Amino acid sequence: MKIKIVSSSQNKPSSSFELSKLLKEYIENNIDNNFEIGILNLVDLGLPFWDFSACSEQYSNGVEEEIDAFIFVVPDWNGMMPPILKNWFYFVGSAQFYHKPVLLCGVSSGEGGHYPLVELRAFAAKNFRMNFIPENLIFKNVKELLSTKTIKENKLRERINHCTRTLVAYSKALKSVRSELGEPSSTIKYGI
Ligand SMILES: Cc1cc2nc3c(=O)[nH]c(=O)nc-3n(C[C@H](O)[C@H](O)[C@H](O)COP(=O)(O)O)c2cc1C
Repeated sequence: MKIKIVSSSQNKPSSSFELSKLLKEYIENNIDNNFEIGILNLVDLGLPFWDFSACSEQYSNGVEEEIDAFIFVVPDWNGMMPPILKNWFYFVGSAQFYHKPVLLCGVSSGEGGHYPLVELRAFAAKNFRMNFIPENLIFKNVKELLSTKTIKENKLRERINHCTRTLVAYSKALKSVRSELGEPSSTIKYGI
Protein backbone atom coordinates (compact mmCIF):
# COMPACT_ATOMS: atom_id res chain seq x y z
CA MET A 1 0.00 0.00 0.00
CA LYS A 2 1.34 3.41 -0.97
CA ILE A 3 0.56 6.53 1.03
CA LYS A 4 1.57 10.00 -0.13
CA ILE A 5 1.88 12.83 2.38
CA VAL A 6 1.31 16.11 0.54
CA SER A 7 2.85 19.12 2.24
CA SER A 8 0.94 22.07 0.89
CA SER A 9 2.68 25.18 2.08
CA GLN A 10 4.24 27.35 -0.57
CA ASN A 11 6.82 28.58 1.94
CA LYS A 12 10.34 27.20 1.91
CA PRO A 13 11.22 26.22 4.58
CA SER A 14 7.81 25.53 6.06
CA SER A 15 6.32 24.14 9.25
CA SER A 16 4.06 21.95 7.11
CA PHE A 17 7.01 20.17 5.54
CA GLU A 18 8.72 19.72 8.93
CA LEU A 19 5.48 18.31 10.32
CA SER A 20 5.11 16.00 7.28
CA LYS A 21 8.54 14.52 8.03
CA LEU A 22 7.68 14.07 11.69
CA LEU A 23 4.38 12.36 10.81
CA LYS A 24 6.07 10.01 8.33
CA GLU A 25 8.67 9.01 10.90
CA TYR A 26 6.02 8.55 13.60
CA ILE A 27 3.75 6.41 11.42
CA GLU A 28 6.62 4.26 10.15
CA ASN A 29 7.93 3.61 13.66
CA ASN A 30 4.67 3.22 15.57
CA ILE A 31 2.02 1.74 13.34
CA ASP A 32 2.36 -1.85 12.42
CA ASN A 33 1.36 -2.03 8.80
CA ASN A 34 2.70 -2.93 5.47
CA PHE A 35 2.89 0.38 3.69
CA GLU A 36 5.27 2.71 1.96
CA ILE A 37 5.02 6.42 2.78
CA GLY A 38 6.41 9.16 0.57
CA ILE A 39 6.33 12.93 1.02
CA LEU A 40 5.56 15.38 -1.73
CA ASN A 41 6.50 18.97 -0.90
CA LEU A 42 4.39 20.88 -3.40
CA VAL A 43 6.68 23.91 -3.48
CA ASP A 44 9.47 21.72 -4.89
CA LEU A 45 7.45 21.02 -8.04
CA GLY A 46 7.73 24.63 -9.18
CA LEU A 47 4.40 24.42 -10.96
CA PRO A 48 3.15 27.54 -12.74
CA PHE A 49 -0.29 28.93 -12.16
CA TRP A 50 -2.51 26.58 -14.13
CA ASP A 51 -3.96 27.44 -17.52
CA PHE A 52 -4.71 25.32 -20.59
CA SER A 53 -1.18 25.60 -21.96
CA ALA A 54 0.33 24.58 -18.60
CA CYS A 55 -1.55 21.27 -18.48
CA SER A 56 0.62 19.74 -21.22
CA GLU A 57 3.02 17.02 -20.11
CA GLN A 58 6.05 19.20 -19.44
CA TYR A 59 5.32 19.51 -15.69
CA SER A 60 5.45 16.71 -13.16
CA ASN A 61 2.65 16.71 -10.60
CA GLY A 62 4.78 14.55 -8.28
CA VAL A 63 2.32 11.61 -8.30
CA GLU A 64 3.98 9.37 -10.85
CA GLU A 65 3.10 6.04 -9.24
CA GLU A 66 -0.34 4.69 -8.30
CA ILE A 67 -1.17 5.95 -4.79
CA ASP A 68 -3.65 4.15 -2.50
CA ALA A 69 -4.22 6.92 0.04
CA PHE A 70 -3.22 10.53 0.66
CA ILE A 71 -2.49 12.63 3.74
CA PHE A 72 -2.88 16.34 3.00
CA VAL A 73 -0.93 18.54 5.44
CA VAL A 74 -2.62 21.92 5.01
CA PRO A 75 -1.51 25.14 6.71
CA ASP A 76 -4.12 27.68 7.66
CA TRP A 77 -3.65 30.69 5.42
CA ASN A 78 -6.27 33.32 6.13
CA GLY A 79 -8.73 30.59 7.02
CA MET A 80 -8.23 28.93 3.61
CA MET A 81 -5.99 26.35 1.95
CA PRO A 82 -2.90 27.92 0.33
CA PRO A 83 -3.33 28.53 -3.42
CA ILE A 84 -0.56 26.03 -4.23
CA LEU A 85 -2.79 23.15 -3.12
CA LYS A 86 -5.77 24.12 -5.22
CA ASN A 87 -3.47 24.79 -8.19
CA TRP A 88 -1.91 21.32 -7.79
CA PHE A 89 -5.34 19.62 -8.00
CA TYR A 90 -5.62 20.94 -11.57
CA PHE A 91 -2.31 19.31 -12.54
CA VAL A 92 -3.18 15.97 -10.93
CA GLY A 93 -6.70 15.64 -12.29
CA SER A 94 -9.49 13.33 -11.31
CA ALA A 95 -7.97 9.98 -12.38
CA GLN A 96 -5.43 9.88 -9.53
CA PHE A 97 -7.94 11.05 -6.90
CA TYR A 98 -10.95 9.03 -8.05
CA HIS A 99 -12.44 7.46 -4.89
CA LYS A 100 -9.13 7.48 -3.01
CA PRO A 101 -9.17 8.24 0.73
CA VAL A 102 -7.57 11.41 2.08
CA LEU A 103 -6.71 12.15 5.70
CA LEU A 104 -6.72 15.91 6.31
CA CYS A 105 -4.23 17.51 8.74
CA GLY A 106 -4.67 21.19 9.53
CA VAL A 107 -1.63 23.22 10.63
CA SER A 108 -1.51 26.51 12.47
CA SER A 109 1.15 28.47 14.29
CA GLY A 110 -1.68 29.74 16.51
CA GLU A 111 -5.13 28.47 17.40
CA GLY A 112 -6.50 27.97 13.86
CA GLY A 113 -6.11 25.13 11.39
CA HIS A 114 -9.71 24.05 10.96
CA TYR A 115 -11.22 26.35 8.28
CA PRO A 116 -9.02 25.06 5.42
CA LEU A 117 -10.30 21.56 6.20
CA VAL A 118 -13.88 22.81 6.05
CA GLU A 119 -13.11 24.44 2.70
CA LEU A 120 -11.63 21.22 1.33
CA ARG A 121 -14.48 19.07 2.61
CA ALA A 122 -17.06 21.40 1.11
CA PHE A 123 -15.52 22.37 -2.22
CA ALA A 124 -12.75 20.07 -3.47
CA ALA A 125 -14.35 16.71 -4.21
CA LYS A 126 -17.11 17.38 -6.75
CA ASN A 127 -15.00 16.71 -9.85
CA PHE A 128 -11.83 15.22 -8.39
CA ARG A 129 -13.84 12.74 -6.27
CA MET A 130 -11.26 12.26 -3.56
CA ASN A 131 -12.82 10.82 -0.42
CA PHE A 132 -12.07 12.82 2.72
CA ILE A 133 -12.33 10.38 5.60
CA PRO A 134 -14.46 11.57 8.56
CA GLU A 135 -11.52 11.82 10.97
CA ASN A 136 -8.94 14.59 10.72
CA LEU A 137 -5.95 15.92 12.65
CA ILE A 138 -5.33 19.53 13.60
CA PHE A 139 -1.91 20.70 14.77
CA LYS A 140 -2.29 24.01 16.60
CA ASN A 141 0.76 25.90 17.91
CA VAL A 142 2.78 23.71 15.56
CA LYS A 143 6.12 25.34 16.31
CA GLU A 144 6.00 24.03 19.89
CA LEU A 145 5.53 20.49 18.62
CA LEU A 146 8.28 20.87 16.01
CA SER A 147 10.71 22.19 18.61
CA THR A 148 10.47 18.85 20.45
CA LYS A 149 11.28 16.94 17.21
CA THR A 150 9.09 14.05 18.40
CA ILE A 151 5.45 13.26 19.08
CA LYS A 152 5.31 12.45 22.78
CA GLU A 153 1.85 13.41 23.97
CA ASN A 154 -0.27 10.28 24.44
CA LYS A 155 -3.57 11.83 23.31
CA LEU A 156 -2.01 13.03 20.07
CA ARG A 157 -0.33 9.68 19.47
CA GLU A 158 -3.68 7.97 19.99
CA ARG A 159 -5.36 10.32 17.49
CA ILE A 160 -2.65 9.77 14.87
CA ASN A 161 -2.83 5.99 15.35
CA HIS A 162 -6.60 6.00 15.00
CA CYS A 163 -6.60 8.31 11.96
CA THR A 164 -3.95 6.25 10.18
CA ARG A 165 -5.74 2.98 10.89
CA THR A 166 -8.95 4.54 9.59
CA LEU A 167 -7.19 5.76 6.44
CA VAL A 168 -5.79 2.29 5.78
CA ALA A 169 -9.20 0.67 6.33
CA TYR A 170 -10.83 3.11 3.87
CA SER A 171 -8.04 2.49 1.40
CA LYS A 172 -8.73 -1.26 1.42
CA ALA A 173 -12.49 -0.77 1.20
CA LEU A 174 -12.42 1.84 -1.55
CA LYS A 175 -10.48 -0.45 -3.89
CA SER A 176 -13.64 -2.49 -4.37
CA VAL A 177 -15.68 0.72 -4.80
CA ARG A 178 -13.36 1.79 -7.64
CA SER A 179 -13.49 -1.58 -9.32
CA GLU A 180 -17.28 -1.76 -9.02
CA LEU A 181 -17.85 1.76 -10.38
CA GLY A 182 -15.25 1.80 -13.17
CA GLU A 183 -14.71 5.08 -15.01
CA PRO A 184 -17.40 7.75 -14.63
CA SER A 185 -19.52 8.12 -17.75
CA SER A 186 -18.92 11.21 -19.87
CA THR A 187 -22.27 12.67 -18.86
CA ILE A 188 -21.31 12.85 -15.20
CA LYS A 189 -17.57 13.45 -15.68
CA TYR A 190 -17.87 16.78 -13.90
CA GLY A 191 -19.81 15.52 -10.91
CA ILE A 192 -23.38 16.07 -9.98
C1 LIG B 1 -0.46 34.26 4.36
C2 LIG B 1 -0.65 33.59 5.68
C3 LIG B 1 -1.87 33.67 6.33
C4 LIG B 1 -2.06 33.04 7.57
N1 LIG B 1 -3.28 33.08 8.16
C5 LIG B 1 -3.51 32.36 9.29
C6 LIG B 1 -4.82 32.29 9.87
O1 LIG B 1 -5.76 32.92 9.39
N2 LIG B 1 -4.99 31.53 10.97
C7 LIG B 1 -3.97 30.82 11.53
O2 LIG B 1 -4.19 30.12 12.51
N3 LIG B 1 -2.71 30.88 11.01
C8 LIG B 1 -2.46 31.63 9.92
N4 LIG B 1 -1.20 31.70 9.39
C9 LIG B 1 -0.11 31.04 10.08
C10 LIG B 1 0.08 29.64 9.57
O3 LIG B 1 -0.94 28.81 10.02
C11 LIG B 1 1.43 29.17 10.05
O4 LIG B 1 2.40 29.87 9.35
C12 LIG B 1 1.58 27.67 9.96
O5 LIG B 1 2.59 27.28 10.84
C13 LIG B 1 1.86 27.16 8.58
O6 LIG B 1 3.14 27.49 8.23
P1 LIG B 1 3.88 27.04 6.92
O7 LIG B 1 3.37 27.84 5.78
O8 LIG B 1 5.30 27.37 7.30
O9 LIG B 1 3.66 25.57 6.74
C14 LIG B 1 -0.99 32.34 8.17
C15 LIG B 1 0.25 32.26 7.50
C16 LIG B 1 0.42 32.88 6.29
C17 LIG B 1 1.76 32.77 5.58
